[in-house]
Amino acid sequence: MIQLSDIRITFGKENNRIDALKNVSLEVRQGEFLAVMGKSGCGKSTLLNVIGGVLKPTKGSYLFEGNDVSAFSGKQMAEFRNRNIGFIVQNFALVNEMTVRENVMLPLAYAKIKRSEAMKRAEEAMERLGIIQYEYKFPSKLSGGERQRVAIARSIAADTSVILADEPTGSLDEATGRSVIDIFKELNGSGKTIIMVTHDRELAEQGTRMLTMKDGEITGAQAL
Ligand SMILES: Nc1ncnc2c1ncn2[C@@H]1O[C@H](COP(=O)(O)OP(=O)(O)OP(=O)(O)O)[C@@H](O)[C@H]1O
Ligand SMILES: [Mg+2]
Repeated sequence: MIQLSDIRITFGKENNRIDALKNVSLEVRQGEFLAVMGKSGCGKSTLLNVIGGVLKPTKGSYLFEGNDVSAFSGKQMAEFRNRNIGFIVQNFALVNEMTVRENVMLPLAYAKIKRSEAMKRAEEAMERLGIIQYEYKFPSKLSGGERQRVAIARSIAADTSVILADEPTGSLDEATGRSVIDIFKELNGSGKTIIMVTHDRELAEQGTRMLTMKDGEITGAQAL
């Protein structure tokens, strides 16, 4: 489903150049639940951004279901993201001027889902994450953990085949963190492909495969 070959991502110019990813090759099959671990700065978020069609590789190729994403135009990349990728980013990227409900519905609007259907899906997702009581609140009035759940609800409401999660349990207490992983496992059981960055080995072990990264490279892969 996902095929990365010799991906390089270089940021900055001349003396400030940094290779955030170096020669990364990775294949992910549909239905995998991949956990990505590694020290801060090793390139985990960068890897998710490449897979999510946010960053174009400086070098290398990225095939998604046989399509060459690395050759897409900006517009094609946006379409690709809306259609295929649910993204839970590190800082949640909620829109502060929108209510919880509007935030959850946002990707559905981008994907041109009918409003009645979008409302139904958003409500289901908010119920599932236990945030339905906050639906008319603004993100700035919520705790970090509650905002995190809004971001997760938003990514599952969109019902994409791939979910990318960058430390989705980072600001949650242990019990809530575990319930998020249970939701991921359930989604994974229904066929969704999940790639999750985490610093928590115990949570990583809930996946089907664990990758270890170091200095912009994948240094280990272990089936679980
Ligand atoms: N937009 C950018 N411009 C310049 N350098 C960047 C940019 N984004 C990331 N980097 C650098 O690339 C490297 C990899 O960053 P990345 O965010 O992928 O790390 P990470 O593994 O996700 O770390 P963390 O666990 O702290 O989130 C770091 O050295 C970082 O400083
Ligand atoms: Mg990161």
